[in-house]
Amino acid sequence: MNTTYQTTVADKFLALLRENIPSAEFRHESMAPLARAMQYLAPWQAPRTASRKVRFADGSCPMELRTPLVLAAGAAKQARCLSAFASFGFGAVTVGTATLRPRKGNPLHPRVRTVEESRAIQNAMGLNNPGIETLVRRIASERFAIESERLLVGVSVAEDPDLLPDESPDANVLACLAAAYPESDYIELNLSCPNTGHERLDRAWDRIRRLLGEVSAFRERQEVRKPLWVKLSPDLADESFATALDNVREAGLTGVILFNTWPAAHGTWPMGEPLPELPELGRPGLLGGLSGHPLFPRTLDGIRRAASLKTGLSLVGCGGVETGSQASDLLDSGADLVQLYSVLAFRWMAARRIAEELR
Ligand SMILES: Cc1cc2nc3c(=O)[nH]c(=O)nc-3n(C[C@H](O)[C@H](O)[C@H](O)COP(=O)(O)O)c2cc1C
Repeated sequence: MNTTYQTTVADKFLALLRENIPSAEFRHESMAPLARAMQYLAPWQAPRTASRKVRFADGSCPMELRTPLVLAAGAAKQARCLSAFASFGFGAVTVGTATLRPRKGNPLHPRVRTVEESRAIQNAMGLNNPGIETLVRRIASERFAIESERLLVGVSVAEDPDLLPDESPDANVLACLAAAYPESDYIELNLSCPNTGHERLDRAWDRIRRLLGEVSAFRERQEVRKPLWVKLSPDLADESFATALDNVREAGLTGVILFNTWPAAHGTWPMGEPLPELPELGRPGLLGGLSGHPLFPRTLDGIRRAASLKTGLSLVGCGGVETGSQASDLLDSGADLVQLYSVLAFRWMAARRIAEELR
């Protein structure tokens, strides 16, 4: 396999697991127990030099992380074994995406698969999660262990795509946010999920402006101003991208996460290369979102474009990060933090190794 990092025996073992445990969703669910096992079998101390302090222009609480690496939303959908992710190499874990009520997600399985030849993941899970109340309860029950590991835990929140009749979509998001806020070190607002079968929010400008204003007003009413990032899609055209950033800045929020998964419906990878043939996932007609190796050039370009706009927003790079040198490129280009997820399926103990390479 042609990788941007040196493949080890452990990476080959991981490839063997992918081959012999064909359910990617099962593998995905095994990550939390694996993190717990590694915590005891191979404990790890983050290199001192990898720690990171981040201050924010919007006046929200500064963050101090043991490494600048954050487990991206989607990996800890159940909020299980959270403290163990510190020993995986992370400085923070994003729980969710959470919705106000529990969601089963898309009905047809499989909903996630690896695209081996591209070191990528195709997913159409459809925001399955046990609902914000359960997630918050689980975070609270682990709070002591989380703090002992000096790990930060954030929650990603989104509008429930299946609203009740007469339910206001903004009120739905705000109720989810209000439940998540007290138990979170930071919040992510997911406006860009491409796989619920519903219109994404990050293109409905009037709606977004109103929602971001309400989210900001909610945060102003809290005793503590916690960092709050808005997560965007990598397929926004230049003008929409600049408008999205303006909207976040005008609302007075902390920053943006660049990016969510790449919508497979485009038919190409972000930089225009053709996609391999992809099956429908999750529900008829849905191709879902792609993540992993081919996304990195778009992520780096997004961070550079956002930095050049000089908005003062905090930037978080996410998409296709596989090595310390890529993480370092993002940080050097203006990112405060780096998120990753898919690489964990291809590179054994990826976050630990990336944190050590960063050093
Ligand atoms: C199986 C899977 C589920 C995901 N679920 C979510 C989610 O619930 N909310 C979200 O904001 N992003 C979700 N993502 C997107 C990731 O957080 C991240 O933005 C994307 O995978 C790009 O990073 P990567 O290339 O390092 O994986 C998911 C990704 C995968 C692979």
